[in-house]
Amino acid sequence: ALPRDLFAPGRPNSAGLDLSNDQQLATIAAALRESVAVAWSARPSPGSDAPAQAVRNPADRRDLVGYVVEATSTQVDAALSLAHDAAASWAATSPDHRADCLMRAADLLEVRMPSLLGLIMREAGKSLPNAVAEVREAVDFLRYYAEQGRGLHAPDCAPLGVVTCISPWNFPLAIFTGQVAAALAAGNCVLAKPAEETPLIAAQAVALLHEAGVPLGVLQILPGQGAVGAQLVADARTRGVVFTGSTDVAKLIQSVLAKRLNPDGAPVPLIAETGGQNALVVDSSALTEQVVADVLVSAFDSAGQRCSALRVLCVQEEVAGRTLAMLRGALRELSIGNPDRLSVDIGPVITPEAQAGITAHIDRMRGAGFAVHHMPLPADCAEGSFVPPTIIEISDLAALTREVFGPVLHVLRYPRDGLDKLLTEINATGFALTFGLHTRIDETVARVISQARAGNIYVNRNLIGAVVGVQPFGGHGLSGTGPKAGGPLYLRRLLSKLPAEAGF
Ligand code: NAD
Ligand code: ALA
Repeated sequence: ALPRDLFAPGRPNSAGLDLSNDQQLATIAAALRESVAVAWSARPSPGSDAPAQAVRNPADRRDLVGYVVEATSTQVDAALSLAHDAAASWAATSPDHRADCLMRAADLLEVRMPSLLGLIMREAGKSLPNAVAEVREAVDFLRYYAEQGRGLHAPDCAPLGVVTCISPWNFPLAIFTGQVAAALAAGNCVLAKPAEETPLIAAQAVALLHEAGVPLGVLQILPGQGAVGAQLVADARTRGVVFTGSTDVAKLIQSVLAKRLNPDGAPVPLIAETGGQNALVVDSSALTEQVVADVLVSAFDSAGQRCSALRVLCVQEEVAGRTLAMLRGALRELSIGNPDRLSVDIGPVITPEAQAGITAHIDRMRGAGFAVHHMPLPADCAEGSFVPPTIIEISDLAALTREVFGPVLHVLRYPRDGLDKLLTEINATGFALTFGLHTRIDETVARVISQARAGNIYVNRNLIGAVVGVQPFGGHGLSGTGPKAGGPLYLRRLLSKLPAEAGF
């Protein structure tokens, strides 16, 4: 554990670690070594003697990270009953009590950060800085929603009852914890379904919330495949759903929820945060060095496995050649491999299936005649699911028909007089998550941001790493329902009754 006094009291967002501090780095390195010896496990909250399945490290499939027992249909049903029975007593607790539990969990998580970093890195294939960011964001969500929840007093505000939270593997701690924290802060009981790829870190988060005072029946974890989520969503005891994942699954959930109403006659609320086809527009006034640095981070950090990641770089024709040349040079400097080497920039993609899907996309694009640039993979990548950071030059946005969730950057040139047409085409994809602009012309900033359709718009910086409470995050259209995560409207969607002055 790290000493508490490392973290400034009252600081609204979690502090990072100074990885240039030898003492701190030694603590982390020791914790990473120790975490390899821990028998990590995840099992459904109602208990189970079903056989356990191995969870393996995507960077090296020989590395056995732990075991998961997936929930059976009977266990899902038992968990729903338990949550249903616990709903009234949790709803009757004071908002301050609930907030205090979440604040305690945040403190515990922050102090135990070193012991969890190794698990995140090995289960999700994250680099050390990304694993640190993951814990910090989870801490931030806990504190932010705790404070947001303090004002939700009965009888003006009423929770929904039982809320199902379904999360993805790419932020296996941050998004999992954020969903759960919001639902709990609003006074709901929670059934949490982590992604099948990353149940172990989710189980740690739940154990920590229980230790912080959240009763067992109020928060239950149900590891398993999509079918577990589907059963939870279809059950009438689920009175609200928080989902983060693919647009296809969000549509499926929406169609199931549309078939029933909650007991008060209202539609079952759904918060769905989904994918993107995120673009960055660069005009000829932009500073190429800054563009290249921001593009590398936006497209390839986390091996491109962020919903916010840059998918299409749109460069004005006049500067496209020099921008591409610098990008290709910078690409060669990236280090790819198992993040157990702390110098590694880019880790694996999550599964061999993901690797095959992304590789098939690259092959298809090459087959269609587009220029493809990437470095050969180092030999030590053979035991994991790696895709080299790749640049594909396309001639038309129509070449992209779906989100490619990996380290693949598409580059499109646009003519000097083509900006309006380009923006129309970007908007017409229907996705609206992140969008970026690099320019040094103020009029262009005003014009582009008034036309761009996206949840989070970034000017002259990278597209990733929205900070809880500072940059509420989320999209619309095919990218999500809103309200934005880490923003002031989020908890309201998780209530069945709001004070009149809230205006919703
Ligand atoms: P996914 O949709 O395959 O799975 C997400 C979750 O849904 C998993 O827990 C899965 O088991 C569950 N699920 C699958 N089928 C289900 C069903 N029929 N009913 C209920 N639940 C079901 O997504 P993924 O591959 O885990 O995550 C990657 C996707 O998530 C990308 O598209 C990415 O853009 C998106 N994402 C969006 C955000 C955001 O904030 N907008 C953040 C992170 C990831
Ligand atoms: N909130 C995450 C980001 O901004 C997805 O990268």
